[in-house]
Amino acid sequence: MKKEEEIYEARFQKHIDELKWLYMELYDVQEHFDELCASMKQFYDTRKKVLKASDLTREADPDWYKGSDILGMMMYTKMFGGNLKGVKKHLDYLKECGINYLHLMPLMESPKDRSDGGYAVADFRKVQPELGTVRDLESLASECRKQGISICLDFVMNHTSEDHEWAKRARAGEKEYQDRYFFYDNWDIPSQFEKTVPQVFPTTAPGNFTWLPEIEKVVMTTFYPYQWDLNYANPVVFNEMMYNFLYFANLGIDIIRIDAVPYIWKELGTSCRNLQKVHTIVRMMRMIGEIVCPGILLLGEVVMEPEKVVPYFGTPEKPECHMLYNVTTMATIWNTVATKDTRLLEKQLDSVYHLPGEYTFLNYLRCHDDIGWGLDYDSLGGWGMDQVAHKQFLNDFFTGKYKESFSRGVLYNDDPVSRDARFCGTTASMCGIEEALEKQDEGKMDQAIRLDLMLHGFMLQQSGIPVIYSGDEVGALNDNHYKEDPEKAEDSRYIHRGQFDWKLTEKIPQEGTVQNRIFYGLRRMEEIRMEHEVFSSDALARTMDMEDDSILGILRTGETEEMLGVYNFSDAPKKVSLQETWTDLLNDETYDTELSLKPYDFRWMIRK
Ligand code: GLC
Repeated sequence: MKKEEEIYEARFQKHIDELKWLYMELYDVQEHFDELCASMKQFYDTRKKVLKASDLTREADPDWYKGSDILGMMMYTKMFGGNLKGVKKHLDYLKECGINYLHLMPLMESPKDRSDGGYAVADFRKVQPELGTVRDLESLASECRKQGISICLDFVMNHTSEDHEWAKRARAGEKEYQDRYFFYDNWDIPSQFEKTVPQVFPTTAPGNFTWLPEIEKVVMTTFYPYQWDLNYANPVVFNEMMYNFLYFANLGIDIIRIDAVPYIWKELGTSCRNLQKVHTIVRMMRMIGEIVCPGILLLGEVVMEPEKVVPYFGTPEKPECHMLYNVTTMATIWNTVATKDTRLLEKQLDSVYHLPGEYTFLNYLRCHDDIGWGLDYDSLGGWGMDQVAHKQFLNDFFTGKYKESFSRGVLYNDDPVSRDARFCGTTASMCGIEEALEKQDEGKMDQAIRLDLMLHGFMLQQSGIPVIYSGDEVGALNDNHYKEDPEKAEDSRYIHRGQFDWKLTEKIPQEGTVQNRIFYGLRRMEEIRMEHEVFSSDALARTMDMEDDSILGILRTGETEEMLGVYNFSDAPKKVSLQETWTDLLNDETYDTELSLKPYDFRWMIRK
């Protein structure tokens, strides 16, 4: 047997029993299972040599992504570089930013006027023509590989666009294709579903079903009406979608972001979220990946309450996703900005720090989506805060309604029934940079930049992979142009999905500009993070009681060094007493007994 065959065979043998068992339990059709196995082998056979070599290297070092040397950025190809070739042209800028993990937002074919930012995929094998071709994507991935940058791509597996070939054939009446979705002759079953299934977009796309008048049927559409939910109870759907996943892997994509993964299994009488079979499917996907392309990582998009998130890591014996978003921490940071009270954040961090160290989270402040206020309301309730009133407070604070509030931004899916609304805006606008510019107020600007850097400092102190939202490195502000575009006007998430302004990058070298201060402020911390072992995920992290609810202290203990991060979430200056002597990591100053912090100031300190 050739060496490559042996490698495949060993991987296959490792997983085949469990894979077959799960598959049969779910589908019980041998023929489809055989087809899946044959296709997996074909994907392996056609996988490029360079990718196979990378698989071997990563297999030999399965923790390759767990160090503190990865720095991510996420972006829309069009907004950043115009198209894929444009992104390739700007790789030097990404290098300057220190980026070695690049998440490109969905870029496969999607109808222009009904795209949900690319999350309504009409063809998984074709790039949106305005962004380029599959060849361009491969060429970008290969260039990135040479330069040590991993590429992450969205795999939108919960639904397809209504323009996908399957959807078109289903609409044309072909039963075989209708069976790949959830089709109903009338509203009987859909209305039963509606009793237990919450809504994702209660205002912009109410309900979970859509009436198709031309064929007089109802189709399940959890997200927008033009995004038809796929039926994973059908083995053809599972197999075909696995082939699309492997196709992405073979293009040279390193990280597959499984979009909206909690939603992929539906059952009447349930919330249709996080059902056990979702885990079966993700587990199978993990094994398929480990057999064909073990160098790739699965990143689960699980925007759910904390107890629902962690199960997506699976167990050590039966792992599912390699990485998950630290979504509750993200929402809780912004909660802390508004309340100036670190107690909830401390609680949240304590629970994250108690999780097994091998769990890898992606840490972020902002992304392309809204911020949903998924907080620990039991704890908030214990401190006398009511959920509805508290959400209202947060939204009022961040839209800038309060006199002392510096944030700018807009609400998202403001639901008059539940009085629930989410929030949209860029980091810089939420930190007060937009307001300071409007008011031409230097003092406010200093404070806003300090807050912006402090939040990034907090993010960079955490274990896991920090991901910067493109534009944040130069303090990009909210962009209101979307309001003029009829397709986007209703979807306020576009306020933080604006065109990347290259003029801002020209100001990076100019001393004293917002861009100079933020860009180099971040770079300095990112470099320190990469240099010191105390940032590795092996270090132990814990929160420290700083005797003041507006001050957060986080201690990391590594093998040879200890690092203390102190963050002042108050708009007043503070003094913090210290038990030991610490050296500032950012400016080499030493502190013996006391530390003075300006409003929204922070320190990163070290002790050997
Ligand atoms: C994910 C995406 C979001 C999209 C949704 C539907 O949550 O992040 O932007 O609207 O999935 O695909």
